[in-house]
Amino acid sequence: MAQQVRGVIAPGKDEPVRVETIVVPDPGPGEAVVRVQACGVCHTDLHYKQGGISDEFPFLLGHEAAGVVESVGDGVTDVAPGDFVVLNWRAVCGRCRACLRGRPWYCFDTHNATQRMTLTDGTELSPALGIGAFAEKTLVAAGQCTKVDPAVSPQVAGLLGCGVMAGIGAAINTGQVGRGDTVAVIGCGGVGDAAVAGASLAGAAKIIAVDIDDRKLDKARTMGATHTVNSRQADPVETIRELTGGFGADVVIEAVGRPETYQQAFYARDLAGTVVLVGVPTPEMKLELPLLDVFGRGGALKSSWYGDCLPSRDFPMLIDLHLQGRLDLEAFVTETIELTDVEKAFERMHQGDVLRSVVVL
Ligand code: APR
Ligand code: ZN
Ligand code: ZN
Repeated sequence: MAQQVRGVIAPGKDEPVRVETIVVPDPGPGEAVVRVQACGVCHTDLHYKQGGISDEFPFLLGHEAAGVVESVGDGVTDVAPGDFVVLNWRAVCGRCRACLRGRPWYCFDTHNATQRMTLTDGTELSPALGIGAFAEKTLVAAGQCTKVDPAVSPQVAGLLGCGVMAGIGAAINTGQVGRGDTVAVIGCGGVGDAAVAGASLAGAAKIIAVDIDDRKLDKARTMGATHTVNSRQADPVETIRELTGGFGADVVIEAVGRPETYQQAFYARDLAGTVVLVGVPTPEMKLELPLLDVFGRGGALKSSWYGDCLPSRDFPMLIDLHLQGRLDLEAFVTETIELTDVEKAFERMHQGDVLRSVVVL
């Protein structure tokens, strides 16, 4: 029977978000209802509210979540009621060209997510990134649920559903950071800090964190940065070269999403090094680089999409590492909040003093 629960809705462009009663239907074939235990507040939720992603209001926000499967529909075999799961926003199809080539993070069939939740008056809700987890319960495609060790706290597990996975994956999956490598990370918000942690996990010898805010640099040190550069005070390209014997870093991760910082990343890497773009640019941004430098410097210019992750491989692995004390995921949780505090969390995100506010239910 359909259930009524509380959820956080973005009713219209730039309107404040609010808690409303939502209707969660029983799971149909291939679907699961998840009792959400925690959901992080991500920039993408704010972008939805601002109308920057789609105009299909009202949105049910929240997509960085963990919880317990309550019920599953016909044909669901990978998860069962009672399983503790992390949700992912790439419900891959397993059949498209990207999936068949082993790159499911580029699965083009992004809409095998489900969209059947409504307001009590029947208005259809658009769940953010196909999830909608600022809610006591949510209906998702079963393929969006990855079972993980329930010994971990939900607020930590949920982080892997988006930003933290994007950053760690940028280092270990896309950048293929190896033992002894030199790595630079430009922009140390939640995503950049996760890239620092990922580089540290991978055994990088030097991890140089770059930001314009000293508070961010202090935090990056606690995540594993061995050197820091405030790029308002020193030229980041010069400093990274000095710190790497004049060469530049093996892997440079750009976690801001701007042409100027991408350019810094491009010139701060060693010859034949790798640049990974994980910061998300806006549509009007353009990049200009001398083609001769692209030719002459060689290497790989990559971008990282959801950390190029395979949820079934990466979520349980990172949670195991956390439980063993080898990856501090608690450090990403600045505060835990209630469903009613999401609007305030957006303001704090804007002021730049939180890594993650996490709604705990
Ligand atoms: N040089 C260096 N650092 C910068 C610069 C700059 N010119 N401009 C901003 N920064 C820093 C900020 O000080 C902040 O620490 O970049 C960081 C950005 O962090 P957040 O705003 O917290 O964003 P985050 O959640 O980490 O996401 C970063 O990745 O997934 C994408 O959409 C996301 O584009 C965003 C990026
Ligand atoms: Zn696919
Ligand atoms: Zn997100």
